[in-house]
Amino acid sequence: MKILLAGGAGFIGSALIPKLLERGYEVAVIDLLWFGNHLPEGVKIIEKDLFQCQKEDFIGYDQVVFLAGLSNDPMAEFNPALNFVSNGAQPSYLAYIAKLAGVKRYIYGSSCSVYGYTVNELYDEESPVTCGYPYGISKLQGERGVLQMQDDNFSVIALRQGTVCGYSPRIRFDLIVNTMYKACMTEGKITVNNPSIWRPILDIRDAINAYLRAIQADLTISGVFNVASDNYTVGQVGDMVKEQVEALTDKKIQLNIKQIQDFRNYKVTWEKAKTVLGYEPKHSVSSIIADVHSHHTEYGDFENDQFYNIRTFKKLNL
Ligand SMILES: NC(=O)c1ccc[n+]([C@@H]2O[C@H](COP(=O)([O-])OP(=O)(O)OC[C@H]3O[C@@H](n4cnc5c(N)ncnc54)[C@H](O)[C@@H]3O)[C@@H](O)[C@H]2O)c1
Repeated sequence: MKILLAGGAGFIGSALIPKLLERGYEVAVIDLLWFGNHLPEGVKIIEKDLFQCQKEDFIGYDQVVFLAGLSNDPMAEFNPALNFVSNGAQPSYLAYIAKLAGVKRYIYGSSCSVYGYTVNELYDEESPVTCGYPYGISKLQGERGVLQMQDDNFSVIALRQGTVCGYSPRIRFDLIVNTMYKACMTEGKITVNNPSIWRPILDIRDAINAYLRAIQADLTISGVFNVASDNYTVGQVGDMVKEQVEALTDKKIQLNIKQIQDFRNYKVTWEKAKTVLGYEPKHSVSSIIADVHSHHTEYGDFENDQFYNIRTFKKLNL
């Protein structure tokens, strides 16, 4: 099977692609390489702006996975106009040309950010979406646009991911668990901005599992699926990171608890992904820290701008 990954050189794609290759899939990537190229040697990479793609670029692929766009709130707020076209219009346009090119399935990397600030209940895919900030709104627009293209010959799966954390060859230290780990290693302290806020956390290895299940699902399956490893309060995450870093190193970690208002608060159920796709999360915050720490000799300077999307994005001058 031939799979095209749009934005496949990013954090998720760089960890997913080796697993696709292990399973014998043929992969190709279209990406502008904003954060460099950390893909295995031999992977076909087309360095091209996805906005410039035409139907011809997608011919011959069985499935397309969308992992591009502006992938966090700071980027979305820094350039809201580009955010709305990259996260809303672009995935819809690419689904449109993929369908014209005869692609059978389109998988969209969506986000639980669409839920916004919720009451303290478990949200499923039928629950209201109340986001009122650029990133969340644009991810919802992208999701609705791509699902509009679904029919009997074109399956569309949107994976509403929790905050993806863990190790990837293209590492990010701007994602909650990874950020706390970095703060432990560099400052010996974790700042918890608001301990009572809920977040679904998705270990990148569970995220990979969700993409594999979506790729392998029967082509009659389409729809939106929440995917997370577990729901935690930010206070719980801080405690678990502290405990695990102290167990793995000789550091004593301080916790600095603040009460800063957040505009996101949600916890989700992934029961639908479990029932329909066979998705089963296996990892916890402790296991994320163990995995990230097992690669600590690779990171070099923790302040490398490539580890922080907003810093690299500002330098691109888009
Ligand atoms: N990482 C998370 O916590 C998380 C959570 C929920 C959803 N998502 C979504 O999953 C997807 C992947 O996330 P990630 O963390 O791997 O992102 P990332 O920022 O690491 O990677 C995005 C990639 O897209 C490429 N790209 C962006 N615009 C492009 C364009 N116009 N043409 C060609 N390439 C372009 C970049 O060069 C980069 O390699 C994103 O759509 C994101 O919104 C991520």
